[in-house]
Parts: sequence; structure tokens; C-alpha cells
Amino acid sequence: MSDSLLVEDATIDSYRDRFVARLSQTVPGRKEFVVGSASGCTLTSAEGREYLDMTSGIAVANVGHTHPDVVAAIIDQAQRYSHVNVYGRFVIPEQVEVVERITSVTAPGLDVAYLTSSGAESTEGALKLARKFTGRPKFVAFERSYHGRTLGALSVSWREEWRAPFEPLLAEVEFVPFGDLAAAAAAIDERTAAVIVEPIQGEGGIRIPTDDFLPGLRQLTTDAGALLIVDEVQGGMGRSGRWFSHQHWDVVPDIITMAKALGGGLPLGAIVSTAEIFATFVDPPLSHLTTMGGNPVACAAGIAAFDVMVRDSLVEASAQQGEYLRARMGEVQRDYPERIIDIRGRGLWCAFEVAGDGNLVARELQERGVLVGSVLNSAGTVRVTPPLIITKEQIDRFVAVLREVIETGIGIDVAEDAS
Ligand SMILES: Cc1ncc(COP(=O)(O)O)c(C=O)c1O
Repeated sequence: MSDSLLVEDATIDSYRDRFVARLSQTVPGRKEFVVGSASGCTLTSAEGREYLDMTSGIAVANVGHTHPDVVAAIIDQAQRYSHVNVYGRFVIPEQVEVVERITSVTAPGLDVAYLTSSGAESTEGALKLARKFTGRPKFVAFERSYHGRTLGALSVSWREEWRAPFEPLLAEVEFVPFGDLAAAAAAIDERTAAVIVEPIQGEGGIRIPTDDFLPGLRQLTTDAGALLIVDEVQGGMGRSGRWFSHQHWDVVPDIITMAKALGGGLPLGAIVSTAEIFATFVDPPLSHLTTMGGNPVACAAGIAAFDVMVRDSLVEASAQQGEYLRARMGEVQRDYPERIIDIRGRGLWCAFEVAGDGNLVARELQERGVLVGSVLNSAGTVRVTPPLIITKEQIDRFVAVLREVIETGIGIDVAEDAS
């Protein structure tokens, strides 16, 4: 966007209408603001209003927006080459570099990756891989799960109202309650190719299962000869205070899906598995393909973002600042226990639950200069997922605005509470 757009109000306004008219919308209603720029933890509208970004573009800007190292890497790579070929004919050094980095923080053996451009695409590839490797048709998934919106990913994503209009989807998918090992045990059988699970559910409301759940799923899948796919699209790249959220438990999955923060703000996803499992994609050759997956510019951004994460210890920062954020939100909850009914999270993957409509609370926070988000599968949940570079001062600022908003009672259903 040129600088002139930042000052021409008429042009800014016209973008709203043109955006709604020309870009296929999946959400009705007026658009909130026209984006001007973003830097670190700050998003600035075209009118020049600054917002504290507690969403990270839904867990994408883990190293902050427009990190100088990421921007420099993008420019450098774009000047050398961007897209050339990805069907396995040429060697792309940037792909090697990014995969070596990712697999340096996954369990030994999980050291091969197929690169994609999005989370849904990673889910699709993982489902195909599991079917091909096991020769079985069925998937077990969980209530409140979310794995993307393409047909395969939709098939294993829970919410009925979003699946029903697109049926028939994948035929054999069984949903069981998240955290319920007995139900999972009953569902996993000799037809099961894989169980697909978010170790901590994101769109389900940042829900953390009991400690026996993921190890239990590992055991059940191993016993049944099925694969365990962990979806780390939202929970990966330090978001939960570990590199990947399944690493909070002593579990080695068969397949890990990634995207979102992986590309440092550019579209990059990955399916990580073992060489043995991936061998199945070579027989017959070209069993799986993408033109843009592992785009060199996205890889260069991903390499830079990864190196920033390591150099600045952002996984550790996520764990520490997450504790601080939840403790500070807890102070507000103590004063309004009937309005904020729960606070959850690991690392900077946090949420608070209101006795009311999370969307309305989020909107009120935005009015006051703070961006948070709702989640897809839990109405009262407000997601708080700032960049991992957030400072204590910025967290304090957020908490002060949160207190103001909770005091107003906007979005809260409880008529008379204890406060
Ligand atoms: C856990 C999880 N899996 C998959 C996806 C789909 O990713 P994308 O929107 O990049 O297709 C998301 C998106 O929010 C997600 O949270």
C-alpha cells in the first residue's frame, strides 16, 4: 500500500466496499478496519490507529509482525529466485535448510518432511499418507476438533453444521469426545488408518486434556496398527511453550502436521513423518503433488523465523510470559469470578472463558485498541495468542483494558453477579 493511501480517507473508505464486492466473503457484516501496516505486536489501521495485537493473525506472527530478519530474508530470496520447480526435479537448498531446522526439534526418526502451503493442505496430505501406508480407510477424530476446510480436512473436523452441506465427505470418520480414552478405544479398530488429534485443542477453546490422554492414544493406535497424527498447525512453533504441543507429554507420533507460524508470516506448511512412512508416496511415483508447497521465498522466511526463535529463546519466552499472562488475567477473574469463568492455556496459547458471548467481549476490547479473537467451536471462549516477543509491559496494558471491558459487563449474560 503506498503512503498516499494512508492519508486519503476517501480511498480508505472505498476499499471497504470494493473488498466486500470483489472478495468472496464467508463472514457477513461490515469490515472492521482497513489494514495499513504491522510491526512487532502492533497492527496499524490505514487511518493510523494502533492496536495491540493479541492474536498474531491466529498464531502466525510468533516472531512478531515484519520481523527485520524475516523481511531481509524474503527480500534476499526474492532477488535470487522465487518459484522454479517443486516436482522433485531440482534441488532447492532453502527447502533442505528449513526441513533440517524443523526436524532438529522433532523426535528422532521424525526427520522427513513434505512441504505445503497451508494447514488444510497439511491435513489432506497426512490423511492420504495414513491411508496409503496402512491400506485402511477409517479415521478417528474428536469432538470440537478443527483441521481445516478442504474436503478431507472438513471430514475430520467436528462441527456438524459446517460439514453437513458438503456431504458426502470421507465415509468412515468417527468422532469421540476429546479426552475420553475409553470412547477412543471403542472407536479404534482394524479398519482405522489413523487417529488425528490436536494435543491441545485450538478452535475447540484452547482445551488441555488430562495427562493420560495423548500417551493413551499412542498406545491404542500402536496396538491397533493405526497411525497417530498430531495436528500442530496452531499449537506448533513455540506457541504452547514447547516447540510442539505434543511435547508436553512423552509421546512420539507417526505424523505431525504444521503450518501457520512455520513460514514467519508467509504461506508454508509441512507434514513431518518417518522415511519409512513417506516411502509410500513414491509408489507409484507422484502419489502426492503441489506446485507451490515449499516455495523458496516462504522457506527463506521460515528459516529466518526459526533462527529468530532459537536466538531469542522464544520457546522459553512463550512458557514464561504465558505464566505471567495467565496470572495477570487471574487477577481480573478473582474480582469478577462470575464473568470470567475460566482461564486456560499453555505458554502463550491462552484463552479466557466468559459467561456470555466471546465475540462481543472481543469486539469491545478492539474498540479500546486491543485485538483478541473468538474461536470456531466454543462460544464463550476468547483466544489470547500474542506474538511470543510480547513484553510484560504490553501484557500489563492488555490486562488493564481487559479489566475495563469486564467491568462494563458487555457481552456477559449474567444479570446480577457477585461483583
Ligand atoms: C489445528 C488446526 N489445523 C488446521 C488448520 C487449518 O489451517 P489453514 O487455515 O492454514 O488451512 C487450523 C486453522 O486454524 C488449525 O487451527
